[in-house]
Amino acid sequence: MAEEKKLSDIGWKDFKKLPLSEKGAYFHGKHTLIAQQFTRAEIEELCMLATRIKRINKRREGANFLKGLLSDKRAMLYFAQPSSRTYLSHNAACQILGLDTMDVRDQKTSSEVKGETPEDTIRTFSSYADLIIMRHPVGGFAERVAWMMAHTGREIPVLNAGSGADQHPTQALLDVYTLRRSFENIGGIDGKHVVFVGDLARGRTVRSLAWMLSLYKDMTLYFIAPESLQIGQDILDQLDEAGTKYVVSEDFASAMPVADAIYMTRIQDEWDVEGESSTTDASDYHIGAEHMDIIKDTCAILHPLPRRQEISTEIDNDPRAVYWRQMRNGMWIRAALILKTFGREQEANQYYDDYKPEA
Ligand code: NCD
Repeated sequence: MAEEKKLSDIGWKDFKKLPLSEKGAYFHGKHTLIAQQFTRAEIEELCMLATRIKRINKRREGANFLKGLLSDKRAMLYFAQPSSRTYLSHNAACQILGLDTMDVRDQKTSSEVKGETPEDTIRTFSSYADLIIMRHPVGGFAERVAWMMAHTGREIPVLNAGSGADQHPTQALLDVYTLRRSFENIGGIDGKHVVFVGDLARGRTVRSLAWMLSLYKDMTLYFIAPESLQIGQDILDQLDEAGTKYVVSEDFASAMPVADAIYMTRIQDEWDVEGESSTTDASDYHIGAEHMDIIKDTCAILHPLPRRQEISTEIDNDPRAVYWRQMRNGMWIRAALILKTFGREQEANQYYDDYKPEA
């Protein structure tokens, strides 16, 4: 990672104009705001730490040790958009590490209804908390919050738990963690064919994950969607720059047999301006029992969830359906990320090396 820079040293307009590849230097080691801030080595480190935390947590003494690590810290969960998994897994990750949590999950219950700006609301949270975990419908707002706090003198870490239709970096981390575990016995992530299906235009999880996978060698990414819901050119440009191969197509059937992983997504109709999703035929972007003989025996089927009809429940018990495991992985990787954010990972590593908890 390039030299670290301070958010307090740059004006908002100049910061906003920076390409994603340059923004990371301002967040590094503190905030988690965009997928592009991570190096492969950092992702691998977090994955290893997640597995260690999971193993340590299996025994009561280990769980008690983990709970002591950040018991002097408080986290604010500010979720201004619906969430089940991301909210609960961050909350559970905090509990594993002993952080107390507070939350605002409905803007109607915050002083924003009295006309307070979101900036002031968040500044208020920062007075009581040591960490802000936030989801917001406005793309880039989490970055704005981090910048703003750097300029108020209380720059507490901000974790972006989903912003607009653009970024979902912690989901991308848990997705990479899931792929890594799924491919453990078949050579790891390098060289794999990952097929993204569904609403790729407005699905922030795919946007963040596609970029993270460009850090791996010899990948081929397939973007399978109806034309109107295809992945943004900005992501394709980033893949070009990284030298990652990709295929953009509407044809799911041809991609299925070559897929090492299939990443399904739902239609994100909450972003519709005029109900345009209702006129898009997405029925071909579906996987069910009829496809189980076509896909590889080792193929991993992922979904950030929530799902609608794009995955039939009848395949839920197929060993290749990893989406429930993927969801649980979110808790462990988020615990790893929070521990690392506070610079306390060495203690967990030391505990692991001393006690070597079993897998
Ligand atoms: C995703 C999201 O919110 O972007 N959900 C999640 O965080 N697991 C995907 C979605 O809502 O479709």
